[in-house]
Amino acid sequence: MKRALITGITGQDGSYLTELLISKGYQVHGIIRRSSTFNTGRIDHLYQDPHETDQRLVLHYGDLTDSSRLVTLIEKIRPDEVYHLAAQSHVRVSFDEPEYTGNTTGVGTTRLLEAIRMVGVDTRYYQASSSEMFGATPPPQDEDTPFYPRSPYGAAKVYGYWMARNYREAHGLFAVNGILFNHESPRRGETFVTRKIARAAARIAAGVEENVYLGNLDAVRDWGYAEEYVEGMWRMLQADQATDYVLATGTATTVREFTQYCFDRVGLDWEKHVRFDETYLRPTEVDALIGDASKAQTELGWKAQTMPEQLAHLMTDAERHSLGI
Ligand code: NAP
Ligand code: GDD
Repeated sequence: MKRALITGITGQDGSYLTELLISKGYQVHGIIRRSSTFNTGRIDHLYQDPHETDQRLVLHYGDLTDSSRLVTLIEKIRPDEVYHLAAQSHVRVSFDEPEYTGNTTGVGTTRLLEAIRMVGVDTRYYQASSSEMFGATPPPQDEDTPFYPRSPYGAAKVYGYWMARNYREAHGLFAVNGILFNHESPRRGETFVTRKIARAAARIAAGVEENVYLGNLDAVRDWGYAEEYVEGMWRMLQADQATDYVLATGTATTVREFTQYCFDRVGLDWEKHVRFDETYLRPTEVDALIGDASKAQTELGWKAQTMPEQLAHLMTDAERHSLGI
């Protein structure tokens, strides 16, 4: 049985990736943070009692800021594949907590790579790189597009990208950067814009709320469906050679259009319910991200299936379902 280690297993992508890897016959090990409240809601349906035999999901406490723990975990698990998904992943928050974001999202990557090198385990490594690294460089963006990060988060991800590249080139590690454009789902964190809008549309339609406060409606994003993107991550680690790939839909949608898709779905006029709040603006914005995933299609046979309008509908439907309507 192949063993995979996932950092960030409690996040959106970690939960879908765990389902995928278990379905492929892997034993999945995940690192979770100690928290005073439960943070395993996205993977609770996969939880197994540790006393069961044939365990397919094993959880370990750990943190990206604790290098000795990362070493002991790599030594103990000796994974065949490592999916490094953990990060302080919120761009707006990274302006408030730039040092913490650098420590976890940036240096946390080095701690994990160094743990792999020090233990000397033969493994394949996936780095969760981001389209946010392209920042101010205009679209379309692909694997050869120069980076111009516009946030502490983007800068930390650029550092992580180059560390993964360096461990590939300097130490021969099978290290892959998946440069993923925004991908969403009903499991998305509630403060990311798609989930916030889908949730608001459903709640306003149900009479629970009246309005939603948003920031920049003009930003353009390339929104795909997270469940499809974790399949791309897995395919990257099954390739013959380690290289970097963009995953994206190749489509452009503004925040305004996404809002309209969600509100249309519940039969409401979005303009009557959306209010502006400057709190949600960023000191420097990424105006437009539109990816070109041709390399992933040619080399991995991966292509996004769910387009933004369909995604908005499925997310809004999921919110209505959770409200019992
Ligand atoms: P997410 O839902 O925010 O999940 C982040 C995960 O990282 C959570 O499991 C979180 O644990 C964990 N984490 C945070 N700080 C940690 C620390 N100090 N030590 C250990 N674990 C820590 O993110 P996601 O959307 O699944 O994204 C997965 C990865 O892909 C992230 O690296 C993100 O930056 C990157 N990415 C995401 C997108 C996207 O559109 N979703 C696009 C490109 C790249 P808790 O549950 O305890 O908070
Ligand atoms: N979060 C949020 N909340 N964003 C808003 C709001 C709001 O109320 N109003 C407008 N926006 C705009 C933001 O200014 C941004 O241009 C866009 O909506 C998307 O914001 P987010 O959903 O927070 O995502 P992001 O694009 O900043 O970052 C996500 O995608 C990156 C990949 O490009 C995150 O998942 C990152 O971790 C990921 O790397």
